[in-house]
Amino acid sequence: MTAEKPTHTRHVPVMLPRILDLLAPALEAADRPVHLDGTLGMGGHAEAVLERFEHVRVVGIDRDPQAIALASERLARFGDRFVAHHGTYDEVPEALALHGVDAAESMLFDLGVSSLQLDEVDRGFSYARNAPLDMRMNPTVGASAADVLNTYEHGELARVLKEYGEERFAGRVASAVLREREVEPFTDSARLVELLERTVPAASQRTGGHPAKRTFQALRIEVNSELSIWATTVHRALDHLAVGGRLAVLSYHSLEDRLTKQALAAGATSSAPPDLPVELPEHAPWLRLVTRGAEQPDEAERAANRRSSSARLRVAERTRTADRPSRRENR
Ligand SMILES: C[S@@+](CC[C@H](N)C(=O)[O-])C[C@H]1O[C@@H](n2cnc3c(N)ncnc32)[C@H](O)[C@@H]1O
Repeated sequence: MTAEKPTHTRHVPVMLPRILDLLAPALEAADRPVHLDGTLGMGGHAEAVLERFEHVRVVGIDRDPQAIALASERLARFGDRFVAHHGTYDEVPEALALHGVDAAESMLFDLGVSSLQLDEVDRGFSYARNAPLDMRMNPTVGASAADVLNTYEHGELARVLKEYGEERFAGRVASAVLREREVEPFTDSARLVELLERTVPAASQRTGGHPAKRTFQALRIEVNSELSIWATTVHRALDHLAVGGRLAVLSYHSLEDRLTKQALAAGATSSAPPDLPVELPEHAPWLRLVTRGAEQPDEAERAANRRSSSARLRVAERTRTADRPSRRENR
């Protein structure tokens, strides 16, 4: 564990003033609005919402028990205006029920990993220091990064490395892992880092950054099923957004951003068949895109907080109710 630093210094919230401004119209227009923070983390964004909008109640979800404990302590001064839900962020309805509602006026999902998780050596997210190859955001459930390395077949491992890590040498790295695990199963990060340094060609190491960066990212995404959970959650979140409510999503990976973009675009586009002379009300768009494309942090923020440099922010507003039976069946 890292030394006990104050919670607010352990993770700098990304694009904070911009997000508050973009959510403000939805929160200011309602009497007793609820804001759902689907990725509570250290509670930085949630605290700013509670401070700026004094009539807002907040529910925060996180799958990481340590994040829930630290953020709950930080936000205790807001009394029953804040409640926490320990679970994955697809549990939107269960979390909203803690405030007795079925829809939120605003929502924020700040996807990916927190600085706390990266800094806690024991949790194995970072390739910079030797640690057990774990990487589970909720360390009490599921398979660890070591399990993935020790059990996946070649094709499956190569796919994970290529898709989630954009590792050009995914096949070569997967072959090296399979050879190495015959000698002894993987348990900690130093051995994997050393294998990657040997396997990724030197020329690529000069241009592509640290040879372990992409593989560690890929393993983290796989271990935590980040993309598959997000693919379900983005639709569920929209289903539980009040009319006039706004959803904000910060993504750090192109695949997450693509899923977000597609889900928002689908709601913001008429579903009328092209040969229909007039658009029926049920075919009209039910979302309005608030950001034009994805917004990025400005240069000053990127320089001050390196973790923000890949962030992409998309915000949409719900303009009407929409009956989408196929989505509702998925619950
Ligand atoms: C980037 S941090 C959020 C930081 C937060 N906005 C703040 O200001 O402190 C992302 C958080 O989301 C959590 N998380 C990631 N995937 C999740 C999931 N599927 N369900 C619930 N929480 C998740 C992580 O455990 C982490 O604490």
